Amino acid sequence: MVAPEKDPREEVIQAWYMDDSDEDQRLPHHREPKEFVSLDQLSELGVLSWKLDADNHETDAELKKIREERGYSYVDLIEVCPEKLPNYEEKIKSFFEEHLHTDEEIRYCLGGSGYFDVRDHNDHWIRVWVKKGGMIVLPAGIYHRFTLDTDNYIKAMRLFVGDPVWTPFNRPHDHLPARKEYVQAFVNKDHSDRAVDAAA
Ligand SMILES: [Fe+2]
Repeated sequence: MVAPEKDPREEVIQAWYMDDSDEDQRLPHHREPKEFVSLDQLSELGVLSWKLDADNHETDAELKKIREERGYSYVDLIEVCPEKLPNYEEKIKSFFEEHLHTDEEIRYCLGGSGYFDVRDHNDHWIRVWVKKGGMIVLPAGIYHRFTLDTDNYIKAMRLFVGDPVWTPFNRPHDHLPARKEYVQAFVNKDHSDRAVDAAA
């Protein structure tokens, strides 16, 4: 028997179910006992992930390929920490408001780390910890939020298809087409399969 190879992405991206405590949002908020979530489980929610060479992001062929394949024509860099982000406290609060976007949210961590929380099929929070080298795509229409961890620093590349739109739609915004499409594709997926089977 050969032991299954560890997914290299897990060195830079880890996910787990959150507890319900109201303590500092920057703490890990693991459940007791810990309940980790695999990157495959995340992909079932439409959340994609890669491990890339952050030190060479300017010349990285793998990043170039992802950008070409997925049409990510726009990039910029953002640093989130008290010293560098104008209106830091206000921004941190707004990032942590549960919201969705009508486009993908694509973030590539070039330094530091942060938590991207996403809702699972049952509306439970999964905390996705992204560290240097981790890149994730949150699909359009998924409810999510962001916070720094207790290190209080992330440097991230933001990518987008065409001209960027960063507008957050705070929950609830269930009537938006992007939300309906997300629910259809990822939340009701099993039900719709069954409905198709029943109709066949
Ligand atoms: Fe967002």
